[in-house]
Amino acid sequence: MSSKKLSQEEVRHDGHSVRASVRATELRAQLNRWLHEYHVLDAPSVADATYDRAYDELVKLEREHPELVTPDSPTQRVGAPPSSKFEKVRHLSAMGSLEKVTTAEALDKWADDVRRRLDTDDGIAYALEPKIDGLAINLTYEHGLFVRGATRGDGEIGEDVTINLRTIPAIPLRMLGDAVPDLIEVRGEVYMPLSGFRALNERLVADGKKPTPNPRNAAAGSLRQKDSSITAARPLSFWAYGIGVHEGAPLASHWQTLQWLKEHGFPINPFAQRLESIEDVAKQCAAWERRRTELDYEIDGIVIKVDDYEQQRRLGALHQRPRWARAFKWAPMTATTRLTKIMVRVGRTGALNPWALMEPVEVGGVVVSRATLHNEEDINRKDIREGDDVIVQRAGDVIPQIVGPAGAHRRGTKPFKMPAQCPLCGTEVVKPEGEAMHRCPNRACPSRGLESLINWVQSAADIEGVGEQLVRRLWELGLVRSLPELYRLTKEQLLELDGFAETSATNVVNAIAASKAIPFRRVLYGLNIPDVGWVTAQNLARHFGSVDRLAGATQEEIIECEGIGPERAEAIAEWFADSDNARLVEELKTLGLRFEADEGDRPVEGPLTGSQYVVTGTLESYSRDEARAALEALGAKVSDSVSKKTTGVVVGESPGSKVAKAQKAGVPLLTEDDLKALLGG
Ligand code: IVH
Repeated sequence: MSSKKLSQEEVRHDGHSVRASVRATELRAQLNRWLHEYHVLDAPSVADATYDRAYDELVKLEREHPELVTPDSPTQRVGAPPSSKFEKVRHLSAMGSLEKVTTAEALDKWADDVRRRLDTDDGIAYALEPKIDGLAINLTYEHGLFVRGATRGDGEIGEDVTINLRTIPAIPLRMLGDAVPDLIEVRGEVYMPLSGFRALNERLVADGKKPTPNPRNAAAGSLRQKDSSITAARPLSFWAYGIGVHEGAPLASHWQTLQWLKEHGFPINPFAQRLESIEDVAKQCAAWERRRTELDYEIDGIVIKVDDYEQQRRLGALHQRPRWARAFKWAPMTATTRLTKIMVRVGRTGALNPWALMEPVEVGGVVVSRATLHNEEDINRKDIREGDDVIVQRAGDVIPQIVGPAGAHRRGTKPFKMPAQCPLCGTEVVKPEGEAMHRCPNRACPSRGLESLINWVQSAADIEGVGEQLVRRLWELGLVRSLPELYRLTKEQLLELDGFAETSATNVVNAIAASKAIPFRRVLYGLNIPDVGWVTAQNLARHFGSVDRLAGATQEEIIECEGIGPERAEAIAEWFADSDNARLVEELKTLGLRFEADEGDRPVEGPLTGSQYVVTGTLESYSRDEARAALEALGAKVSDSVSKKTTGVVVGESPGSKVAKAQKAGVPLLTEDDLKALLGG
């Protein structure tokens, strides 16, 4: 072999190629760095495809040179053969648990006790972390390499679930940095993000399996799978919150430990804080209870730890419960109750919406007795029946959801069936091909008119002093059954009703008259055109400028308007082609409502021009529409869905899935206070 040939060809050494070995080391380091950026820092620096290419290259190299496989290779996260049982392992140091407090008074009492035992009034700092509702695990690292992971078990002995923990990308297989301790136990919580939990349940239900009752059970069940490839397919994640035995890591406080863990590649919850007064601790606990539904994971409280390790040592523990820590716990977000009856409400578009009437139960600090059910198919897939004990959940949703029947408890007998006739007008119900919803096809069905009138006074026109109750009364008396009738309502008619006097009747009539001035886009929104919500109405108003131009537009022309696809365009064109609807528009025009775009419809130039916001959940000092209008008045664009272009999502109480979407897209979340600041107080 000539020397030239030698340098071109791969040099064989110890039975494998040096070049392959160097490349494998390079790929491993790079892939582990990218995994860390993605799953721990939440800041990926490369596209998924780049990662996949490098991963595939490493798989190929390792297949050709099996001797190059190392235990910390990202390819070794899955692949161990299914185990028949989990071995018991003794933790090197015991895993304690937390004493809980549920009131500010109990928290104060604890702080008093801490002060008394430490014999000091100041110099006590506290570390706060969200208490993740998952399961505690213990990870052992030897010389930086992950060697064993176990569940908490009874605190002394847990189950060895190493092969399953290896599949969780947020858990490093090798600690970062050169100076790693000889031996360390890292403790933390494995959890399932809410977005992943919902997706998992949808999948389980679609496969004809029972949904999991809550993210905690889902995480626990996923971690106890005998086949680690099932665990690998579950969206599990991890936050580290402490250490056990540690040799060669000089750490003096909990806060220092958290920073140290972060530097060594472990995910630390970004909301961890260090505070120096117990008053601030109490304030934060209260603030967090309000914000708990904004996160993409469930937290059931706040863990408060005396920060200094020397102070912790002096305080000690009682029955495995440290005197230096407390869990400030809130009410759980899931509960079991009895589903008394499945009711059906006909919406303003004719869709039959089933909902559940339940025995009142407290979920996450709120008493609930109603929950939405999506449609007949969904109810029967989840096997929910009248008379069942069911699991109710509030997980960042406005209205509670029924997850499914509560295991082997009391069971109802009959599967649910949608009524064959509309509960309001008796018309034969239809279920269009390919749609999940049953519908009442009768366009004159009273419920449609009533629901859209309610929507008009509460949302589209937002008429002061006219609410759902009054509209229902006027409807039942036959006084107002359409929008034109609302605008023709007289003071005399109102005076005939109980509870109305001269002033109150005049006020109502004046408020109704004043609402004729609402801009065209709000009128469009209130007309109850299928699938035309707040944002679409605005886009249509701006694009077409007048109802005449919109009514005269073809489907193709409507598609040209922002955010409108062929189906919606067809439905809009059909709505305007209907002679009853055309008559309604003419009548409202005659009554003086606005059907031409003007100032009120045009985007305003202002300090927020160029930014785009989404508003979700219930706000305290504004209705959602008011918040949108206020943002628009400063030039912002307000949209219904979160995208990469979204500047921020304003989050009220009980928001929906938009929060998770925003978090995924890296879009900032704004509180009501942030919104107030944005609007200039
Ligand atoms: S510290 C001795 N910190 O709460 C103290 N626990 O009852 C050990 N948990 O089993 C726990 N988040 O499952 C700690 N930031 C956190 C936590 C946390 C959740 C869980 C953990 C533990 C239970 C304590």
